[in-house]
Order: sequence, then C-alpha cells, then structure tokens
Amino acid sequence: MKTRFYQRLSLVTITAFLMMTTAFVWWSNDMQTVTRHQAEQQLHLELAEHLVQDNPLLKDGVFDYEGLGNLFHTLMILGPSFEFYYLDTEGNILTYSAEPGKVKASKVPLEPVHTFLEKSQALPILGKDPRNPAKNKIFSASPVYKDSNLQGYLYVIIGGERYDSIVDKLTNNRLFAQYTLIGVTTLSLFLTMMVTLFAFLTRPINRLTSAMEKVRDSNYDMLTSANEKMEWKRDSVDEVQKLGCAFNDMVDHIQKQFKELQSIDARRRALLADLSHDLRTPLANLQGYIETLAINDEKLSAEERQRFIQITLKNSQNLKRLIDQIFELAYLEAGQVNVSNERFPIGELLHDIAAKFALKAAEHKISLTVAPDNIETIVCTDIEKLERVLTNLIGNAIRHTKANGSIVLAVQNDKDGIVVEVEDSGIGIEQSELQYIFDTRYQASNSQKERGINAGLGLAICKKLVEINGSVLDVRSTLGKGTTFFFKLQKAA
Ligand SMILES: Nc1ncnc2c1ncn2[C@@H]1O[C@H](COP(=O)(O)OP(=O)(O)OP(=O)(O)O)[C@@H](O)[C@H]1O
Ligand SMILES: [Mg+2]
Repeated sequence: MKTRFYQRLSLVTITAFLMMTTAFVWWSNDMQTVTRHQAEQQLHLELAEHLVQDNPLLKDGVFDYEGLGNLFHTLMILGPSFEFYYLDTEGNILTYSAEPGKVKASKVPLEPVHTFLEKSQALPILGKDPRNPAKNKIFSASPVYKDSNLQGYLYVIIGGERYDSIVDKLTNNRLFAQYTLIGVTTLSLFLTMMVTLFAFLTRPINRLTSAMEKVRDSNYDMLTSANEKMEWKRDSVDEVQKLGCAFNDMVDHIQKQFKELQSIDARRRALLADLSHDLRTPLANLQGYIETLAINDEKLSAEERQRFIQITLKNSQNLKRLIDQIFELAYLEAGQVNVSNERFPIGELLHDIAAKFALKAAEHKISLTVAPDNIETIVCTDIEKLERVLTNLIGNAIRHTKANGSIVLAVQNDKDGIVVEVEDSGIGIEQSELQYIFDTRYQASNSQKERGINAGLGLAICKKLVEINGSVLDVRSTLGKGTTFFFKLQKAA
C-alpha cells in the first residue's frame, strides 16, 4: 500500500498513542484493584476476630462441625460477599460455608495468615482462595483458642466468588461501554487532529518536493525552472525552510555554472572561428608564393626566386608559431601540464634572456637592462615556464616601445619572496582595457602588430603559466608612459 509521509507519521503516532493508552488503562486498573483491596481489607481487618469473640462456640474453642456449619451458613446469608473457613493449626480446612464440591482446596498455606496476624506487611495481604486455588484473595483471620491452646483459625475470604462474579459482571458491562465510547471518541478526535496536523506540518516538504520536481520537469534547464523559484526564510530555524534555502542556493549555483558553461562554449566557438581565420592568412600567402614558384619557375630571376622562397619561409614560420601557441594554450587550459621545479639563481636567467633579446632591442634602439645588476636570489620554480613567460612579456614590450625607450627586467624583495617585473617606457595601455588584456585573443586599441603575426594569445598563455607556478600575473600601466607586468616568486629555502 502506498502511503504518504504525513499518513505514515500519523499512523506511527496513533499506534504509539494506543499503546501508551492501553498501558495506562492497564496500570490504572491494577492500581484501582490494589486500592480497593487495601480499603476492603482495612475495613474488615477485625471481622474474623469479632466473629470469634461474639460466637460462644468459637470463643470457647469448641470444634463442633455441625454447629459451625450452621453458623457459617447464617453468616453467609447476612454477608454474601464473605466466605468462611475453619482451619486447624496446620491450615487444613475443617469446615466451610459453601455447598459441598465448591471448595477445591483442602488446605490453606498459613504464611499469609501469620503475616496478617502479626501485621508485618502493608495491606493488602493476599491469601489462597480455597474455591479457586490458582487465585489469591484478601482475607481476614483470627486464631481460635481453647484454654490458651491454639485450636485453629477462622479464615474469612473477603469478596467471595459470588461477590466477584456480580462485581465483574457490573464493572465489565459498565466499563466496557464507557471505555468503548471514550476510546472511539478519543481515537477519532486524535486521528483527525493528527492527520490535519501532519498534513499542515508536511506542507513545506510538499512545496519543496514540487520545487524539485519542477527543476526535473524542466529537464534540468535551470533558467526556466528558476523563474518559478520558491521563497524560503533564510533566518528561520525550521529545518524545511533551511532545506529550501539550501536547495535554492544549489539551483543558483548550478544555474551560474550552467551560464558559465554556455559562455565558455560560446567563447570557444568564437575562438575557433578567429583562429581558423588567423591560420588561413599565412596559409593563403604560403600557397600563393608556392604556386608562383611552381608555375612561373622559368620566368623568375634567381633573385626573385630567392625572395619568394624567403617569404614562403617566413610565412611557414608564422604559421608554426601560431599553431604552437594554439597547442600550448589548449594544453594549459586542459590542465595537461607537468611542473618540474628546480633551484636556480634568478639573476642568471634574467641576464640570459636579456642577452637573447639584445640584438632585437638594439634593432629597435631600445635599451634592455637587468636591475639590480647582481641579483643573488635563488628561486625554486619551473625554469622553462618562467623563461616562456619572460620571453613573451619582453617580446610584447619591444613591440610596444618606441625607439630610445627602455625595458628593465627588475627584481624586488617582497616580504615572503621576490617580485619579478618587466617594465617598459612604451606607449602604455588604456585603463579601461587593462582588465581584458589577459583574455584569449584580446588585443588592445594600442596593439602594435608585427607583420600580422600576433593573434592576442601571448598574455593568456603567460597568465596560465604563472598560475601553474603558483603565482599571479598582474599589470600596471600609464598611457604614453609605459607598462609594467609583474608577478611574485618564492625564494628557495
Ligand atoms: N608592454 C605592452 N605595452 C603596451 N601594450 C601591451 C603590452 N603588452 C601587451 N599589450 C597589449 O595587450 C594585448 C594582448 O597582448 P598579447 O601578448 O596577449 O597578444 P599579442 O602580443 O597582440 O599577440 P601574440 O602574443 O599572440 O603574438 C596586445 O595586443 C597589446 O594591445
Ligand atoms: Mg604577445
């Protein structure tokens, strides 16, 4: 059977309630019986003693079977709720007040009688019922003496068989009707209350479920389902409200990631289109010159042929550079990079790179220096990646610095390492464009292109390489005054 959550809750609570009520009714019944027995035994505490005192036969301790039988019969007519027994000193029943055959036991254990007479235990004290030996009942008892010799006991069962059956009948009928009525009324009231209460309490859960179902039904299209997002109280202590907030946060988060994925996908497509275009230009040039060389070979002079071959070579170099950059970026973005850190003096690396660019800088009439000249700091990083970064940054700096300008490769001490700077006195970058220059394919309005080979990939690659080395590539620039790219490096321990 399929049941809803609140129905199950109601069922469990009602079962628990019924069990508790049954236990309580049983306990209170038991208490009631004990109290009744206590009161009745207390009331008839001295009954047996009075009977012994008032009756000449018993008072004198004379055992007259017939006389006692008559006496018991008379007493039973007067007090039908009592049963009388005359016991000998061993507890054997000598005579009694019932019709023959009714009394099943021939002996009554005397321990309860002694306890009763000695008053050594709180009431009620239960003794064996000779009519029903499996049952214990309250009683009154008194010893019978003949000249101070114990002859036996008068043993009176209070609330005898007849009394019990009448009381049982009455109570059963009355109580059954009462209990049934109370039980049915309470149960129906309780049932209605519980079902209503649980339906009310589980309403937020139903709301949350339907919110989740909406997200599912929208085929996890968060943008559509978010329009119908439900409001939950963030500062509430209610668990369901908190759950609702957590669900909304989760939807927001997934939605954000979903949007990001969409935009990354769009950027990737645009990048692919742009790069195809960039590749096409040198490729078309290459093809053109090769065709000219192939078709007009005899018509071309030796110098012309040599010039065409040089141009073809240059184009194929550009093409290779571009393809290398694309591959590098793709590898970096996919995270497929191995880092091999080693200890080396940063000063030496800066001087080596400066030497590598010395000729090119001289061609552009730009001074390229390392400051301070003797840097002794040892760093621990991936030297190959660091060299790629510096090469890219110096290449950019040379392209964007006019003749007589300067480029300084500087190292400054920082509180927990060093800061490496590539500072130029070039044309600078517009402030509003600074935030975009690390984006793939972004070229600022000042961009100086070297015979069309620049594709705007260099800084994106540098940023990733610096990140892999555990640092951040940053920039500051003043238009017309110069630009500085800088990043931190840890000193080797
Ligand atoms: N030192 C610099 N001074 C002024 N502008 C710079 C400097 N370095 C970079 N830029 C600007 O940032 C842009 C992005 O540089 P990036 O290195 O990513 O691309 P690129 O040099 O144009 O192309 P590629 O590096 O692929 O050859 C450049 O086009 C230029 O506008
Ligand atoms: Mg560049």
